[in-house]
Amino acid sequence: MTVHIGAKPGDIAETVLLPGDPYRAKWAAENFLDNPVLVNEVRGMLGFTGTWNGHKVTIHGSGMGMPSLSIYANELIRDYGAKTLIRIGSCGAMQKHVGVRDVVIAMTSSTLGSPSRGIFRDMNFAPCADYKLLQAAVEATKGMDVPVHVGGIYSSDTFYDERDDLVDQLTRHGTLAVEMEAAELYTLANRHSVRALAVLTVSDHLQTGEALPSDQRERSFGDMVEIALKAAFT
Ligand code: ADE
Repeated sequence: MTVHIGAKPGDIAETVLLPGDPYRAKWAAENFLDNPVLVNEVRGMLGFTGTWNGHKVTIHGSGMGMPSLSIYANELIRDYGAKTLIRIGSCGAMQKHVGVRDVVIAMTSSTLGSPSRGIFRDMNFAPCADYKLLQAAVEATKGMDVPVHVGGIYSSDTFYDERDDLVDQLTRHGTLAVEMEAAELYTLANRHSVRALAVLTVSDHLQTGEALPSDQRERSFGDMVEIALKAAFT
């Protein structure tokens, strides 16, 4: 047991999928895993372990934002031995050619501030995804009827962001989308020599104001779970 995870040693798989929402973790475990078992519910942050095609997998909520994700990712990596961590979540598109419902796979993520920011002082560390995991995820999307974009994203610390100029500069530099967790996940994975990736679906568009209706979010979420599981075990 750790401060935030009540699982026993061995209850957590080496491969962990990390949706932000704990109820999405429950939905994914019930719909994709064989014999899912609840392994954590401390503070309502649900985690389940089961098998997919015979492989042991944990699907655990990360909460929203980098401070929350940092807690769970640190404990999963350092205390439970997680070796492959894949964030599955939503993002807001920043480029015209990226549409609502599209999949975004993040090579790297820019950030203004993350829980790890302080250790780099004036250095702008570029956290990066695991290349083989990224390649496998792109491969897994082939045959799926969904446009896929691979590139840099932005992990914001503010959902209701009034710093328009910041978003403008990032957009001008080709940033595909904004979300709130990937940069810290990649930084922790880089620090601890484990594999990480973020597979995201576009739920809203910063330029057009379009948003994915809630009844369509489940299908997009299911696509991400499938991509993540295939990528993890390629
Ligand atoms: N996640 C989904 N849409 C987002 C947005 N517009 N900003 C930050 N995180 C998001």
